[in-house]
Amino acid sequence: MTDKFISIEGIARRYPGADGGRISVFENLWLSMSRGEFGCVIGHSGCGKTTVLNILAGLDEPSEGAVIVDGQAIEGTSLDRAVIFQSHALLPWRTVLGNVSYAVTSKWRKWDRARVKAHAQKFIDLVGLTGSEHKRPSELSGGMKQRVGIARALSISPKIMLMDEPFSALDALTRGTLQDEVRRICLETGQTAFMITHDVDEAIYLADKIFLMTNGPGAVLAEIVENPLPKDRGRIDLHRHPYYYALRNHIVDFLVSRSKNFAATVANHDPRNVPTVRPGLGDPTIVSTPKVVETHPAQTAAR
Ligand SMILES: Nc1ncnc2c1ncn2[C@@H]1O[C@H](COP(=O)(O)OP(=O)(O)OP(=O)(O)O)[C@@H](O)[C@H]1O
Ligand SMILES: [Mg+2]
Repeated sequence: MTDKFISIEGIARRYPGADGGRISVFENLWLSMSRGEFGCVIGHSGCGKTTVLNILAGLDEPSEGAVIVDGQAIEGTSLDRAVIFQSHALLPWRTVLGNVSYAVTSKWRKWDRARVKAHAQKFIDLVGLTGSEHKRPSELSGGMKQRVGIARALSISPKIMLMDEPFSALDALTRGTLQDEVRRICLETGQTAFMITHDVDEAIYLADKIFLMTNGPGAVLAEIVENPLPKDRGRIDLHRHPYYYALRNHIVDFLVSRSKNFAATVANHDPRNVPTVRPGLGDPTIVSTPKVVETHPAQTAAR
């Protein structure tokens, strides 16, 4: 038994290489999250962030290892895990209401039209799209399309919300507004969320835990950074908190230097016991190097 809601257990992802060998994106990756936590992954391009998210979504399979969500090994996609894509991925021939309703019907197939519509409308209102229900995606701005994606994801009450750089294509103002909405909704509903971002401030604002990945190929989860800022932090005054710069500098230092030379500089890195650190005044406090308890027999057969 485990108190881990999400448990990534020793996963690897390998692709065939040009010389007939195999290229390893990452090996032996272990990561866990509790229910209601917001986790952000940060790492340079190509280190395998999307691959991890796709494996969590069930869109991709690990070459080795297993992923357990709420006590069950992931086997393929599920309406328990909603993905918000950077590219929106809306059905262009359906309206806002039609796109959200489609997801609701997929989850609750026996619901009548009125119930589906009322439920979908609730989430359209929640993301601030009241009045745009009958517009098609081509009539919406990028920010509005992303709101539909958020409404669609939330409408099916997923166990996890998975987001792959959902706001990176948006202007700063819209991005900020959507970050506020996602944060509010996650706090209000206790939503567990796993997000990839390249934006350090976005991670600091949204995440409880920030997972730092080294450069690929052969990337490793180097460190888990616990966010020391108070839960009721606001986006506007984030930078005024006394721990803000310690946290930000710690992440930026990792991206600028440690992510590149991690393997050469850190001896005895144990992927099963990745340190959790909490930046604050002075040096970061090492919170723990937890002993990993497997919740599932690792699937060792290389695919
Ligand atoms: N189908 C594939 N065949 C071969 N290599 C692949 C395939 N899909 C992904 N890769 C490789 O896996 C690595 C990780 O890709 P991934 O998309 O997970 O990176 P990422 O960290 O999300 O990068 P970015 O920040 O640019 O989105 C990359 O080097 C990529 O070239
Ligand atoms: Mg990616």
